[in-house]
Amino acid sequence: MYGHPVKSTAAGAFHMPERMGDGKVREQAANLGNNRHAQCTDCHNPHAVSAGVSPDIDDVGGTNNLASNVLKGVWGVEPVWPGNWGQVISFTEVDDIQYQYQLCLKCHSYYAFGTNPPMDPWGLMRGDGRLTDQSIEFNPNNESYHPVVAPGKNDFIMSTTNGTFDYSGSLLGNLTPGSTLTCADCHSDDAYTGAAGTVPKGPHGSNVWPILRAPWNFDTSGSGSSQEDLCFKCHSPTTYGPDSVNDGTARTGFSIDGTYNLHWVHSVVTFNSKPCVACHAAVPHGWKRRALLVFGRTAPDPSPYFGFGENRGLDSRIAIGGPEKSGNWKCCNCHYYFINFMGYTTPNC
Ligand code: HEC
Ligand code: HEC
Ligand code: HEC
Ligand code: HEC
Ligand code: HEC
Ligand code: HEC
Repeated sequence: MYGHPVKSTAAGAFHMPERMGDGKVREQAANLGNNRHAQCTDCHNPHAVSAGVSPDIDDVGGTNNLASNVLKGVWGVEPVWPGNWGQVISFTEVDDIQYQYQLCLKCHSYYAFGTNPPMDPWGLMRGDGRLTDQSIEFNPNNESYHPVVAPGKNDFIMSTTNGTFDYSGSLLGNLTPGSTLTCADCHSDDAYTGAAGTVPKGPHGSNVWPILRAPWNFDTSGSGSSQEDLCFKCHSPTTYGPDSVNDGTARTGFSIDGTYNLHWVHSVVTFNSKPCVACHAAVPHGWKRRALLVFGRTAPDPSPYFGFGENRGLDSRIAIGGPEKSGNWKCCNCHYYFINFMGYTTPNC
């Protein structure tokens, strides 16, 4: 079970709330740095709560990023957002959070640990083993991000020589490109189903590291992966994953002239099914390039964002030939070596 460290030890060793000059009880950023923990009361104010968690994608109106009733009266931080992928260094303290992320960011950003993120206590993090700064990742000035702070940048519409296509139907439930999410929509108990009154929603603990509601394998979309994996809670498995198809019902911006589903090509058709992490950030929060696209071979992006194997993944020379517009890809935008596949050969540019 992977969970938040709800430590209780000798007097104040981990929990040192201080009474501020303004009369409010609040934990100091410095304590978060050296005595990292999370008690129930760091996230819940027992005097202010009432029943009710954030909505699920199937609920009427879809998801939002607001702080739900069970998070009322708890304090958090709102970053002053820099430019694309900038280090956030300035925060405003918020007494009664309006958005769920404002709670999480008081412990999962520069506000708590400066430029020294903690080690993953489970030792499962790639690279140097350190966790990352979620305020950098969810910055709405980034080129791409999951819509936790603000609605996303992708309109799920492509203009091609074959016409203009809207593929927002690939978003499941009541999600739209304008939706916002909470962290708990991905970080909850693995038994959480979305149905009210069953398993509690919230990042308390899960059998799936790191407190995920469903698996995120580096094989997700590959041959051995399952429709139950995390991404397919919100993105149609018949568009992107091992069950994807190639017809007008499964359009995606990763296509040739709007019609040839390249997600299907790479997940199903290639003799080696390619996982999402062959092309997308392995920490799928946000990224400095569009569509969470990370470079692998030639000049790879740093770990833990690039999570595929050495000398694999998106060729960074794509920067020379990659299209700016959805739906207008060609094999040679990414494949520099000759391939002869399903009637396509490179270069076809
Ligand atoms: C009071 C501080 C605090 C708050 C608030 C907090 N966390 Fe944490 N969180 C921690 C600590 C401490 C850990 C253990 C790892 C570490 O030291 O960073 C942790 C671990 C995690 C992990 C697992 C990381 C791993 O390596 O396994 C996730 C995911 C996570 N938190 C998500 C959240 C989310 C989502 C929120 C907001 C709803 C949140 N946290 C709020 C302190 C906090
Ligand atoms: C779209 C789903 C999704 C959302 C929304 C999301 N996460 Fe995550 N998060 C993940 C996945 C998947 C991983 C595992 C990445 C990996 O394997 O390295 C992860 C990893 C983490 C980790 C541990 C790894 C690290 O890089 O530090 C923390 C801490 C964390 N998330 C916190 C948060 C917080 C805080 C929020 C909201 C501000 C949030 N997450 C929102 C999917 C999500
Ligand atoms: C809780 C729902 C949810 C989950 C789970 C989820 N996503 Fe998303 N994702 C969304 C929504 C909503 C958008 C649309 C944002 C927009 O319009 O820019 C999105 C957008 C994206 C984008 C496009 C971003 C851009 O700016 O172009 C990518 C890539 C993506 N998701 C990959 C993933 C991967 C990989 C996973 C699994 C680790 C995953 N998502 C899990 C809800 C989710
Ligand atoms: C790291 C932050 C964090 C910690 C620590 C934490 N919670 Fe939560 N909890 C949440 C969040 C976030 C939600 C609501 C998720 C939402 O609305 O999306 C939640 C929801 C809940 C709910 C409502 C669940 C439901 O589905 O109705 C209960 C009850 C709860 N927490 C109890 C506790 C108890 C008891 C503890 C201590 C043992 C605790 N929590 C520790 C963040 C936390
Ligand atoms: C956005 C970039 C991109 C585009 C465009 C693209 N591919 Fe790929 N393709 C990849 C990546 C990344 C891999 C995985 C490479 C690896 O395993 O390291 C891959 C792998 C493959 C493989 C498997 C090769 C192997 O060694 O396992 C085949 C076959 C393939 N692509 C065919 C195509 C064809 C045909 C097209 C055009 C119709 C195409 N690709 C367009 C990025 C792309
Ligand atoms: C071989 C590379 C590759 C793989 C593997 C891959 N993607 Fe993508 N994906 C892309 C590219 C390139 C785009 C950008 C399309 C564009 O130009 O808008 C994209 C865009 C997306 C989008 C944005 C909406 C859309 O359809 O354009 C989502 C969501 C997404 N991918 C999810 C996934 C998921 C989930 C997986 C794994 C199941 C995955 N992708 C695997 C290359 C890939």
